[in-house]
Amino acid sequence: MTKPFDGGISRFFEDDAPDAVRDLIRNADKDHISNPDFPYPDEWSKTPYEAALADLQIELAKLQAATQSDGQRIVVLFEGRDAAGKGGTIARFRENMNPRHARVVALSKPTHTEATEWYFQRYIRQLPAAGEIVFFDRSWYNRGVVEHVFGFCTPAQREAWFRQVTAFEKLLVDDGIRLFKLWLTVGRATQLQRFLDRENDPLKQWKLSQIDVDGLHKWDDYTTAIDETLTRTHTADAPWTVILADDKRRARVNAIRAVLTPLEYAGKSAKAIGDVDPLIVGAPDLRHG
Ligand code: ADP
Ligand code: AMP
Ligand code: MLT
Repeated sequence: MTKPFDGGISRFFEDDAPDAVRDLIRNADKDHISNPDFPYPDEWSKTPYEAALADLQIELAKLQAATQSDGQRIVVLFEGRDAAGKGGTIARFRENMNPRHARVVALSKPTHTEATEWYFQRYIRQLPAAGEIVFFDRSWYNRGVVEHVFGFCTPAQREAWFRQVTAFEKLLVDDGIRLFKLWLTVGRATQLQRFLDRENDPLKQWKLSQIDVDGLHKWDDYTTAIDETLTRTHTADAPWTVILADDKRRARVNAIRAVLTPLEYAGKSAKAIGDVDPLIVGAPDLRHG
């Protein structure tokens, strides 16, 4: 079990946050994006967002109907720092899909038994059968980043994992699984602001864990681990799609577009899907956070 909320976020904000980050949060107004590197100053407005999302959810319903008859298997894997918006993006994908064929996989830390297995084994059990779309909210990439930053694996285990992960993903793709690897990225002020909101909202406190509190002090260790992981696992067979996620609305709409655009399905409407925003979606070099 992860420990519940203990006020550690606001303590970090008061005592330890870098001044620049604290100032960005203090000076933020409601719709303003607090990451100065984000390409738009303000959150995308609600009306066009909701219209775009409604069109995309119809496309997702068509995709799901098509996969039921053509037997496609689709994996959409979400990675990113804590509070990057993985869970909320997955929820928008699934909002109007049949949950039976659009599963979410959000595994806890490995059990004692799982820890003795081959690292990929418990994830393999969750891969899609024909007609399924599986959303991984975190994934086998834990070994590249969070396990490394917190010392839950040894450097040798991580190196072995790096040797295996690209080969592992190639096997999935060669077998016909459509694999999307989405990396949601947020700036430090955005992350801290979202943590503060979670700490103050009884409905969101469950999203906070001791890892989140302790991780606040490890921003730079995360940055290094993320850079290395993205560089070493961005392959021709299984490339990363990086999504700038400081604006949740743009992130959600563009994540769905990035998945739908390359897929074939009956009744597909390019017009309803719209264009992926190249300022929001790109290869790993788009990332700054
Ligand atoms: P989340 O961000 O998914 O809500 P946490 O921030 O608490 O969860 O943890 C981040 C990830 O680290 C989770 O996937 C969790 O399973 C993993 N994790 C936590 N503790 C350990 C551990 N001791 N060994 C391996 N993985 C762990
Ligand atoms: P709007 O609120 O629609 O006027 O758009 C505000 C900002 O969002 C503009 O800078 C647009 O470039 C950007 N934008 C507009 N449409 C989209 C879209 N479909 N996806 C992502 N960003 C968009
Ligand atoms: C997210 O919001 O990115 C995750 O799904 C939840 C978390 O990071 O705590």
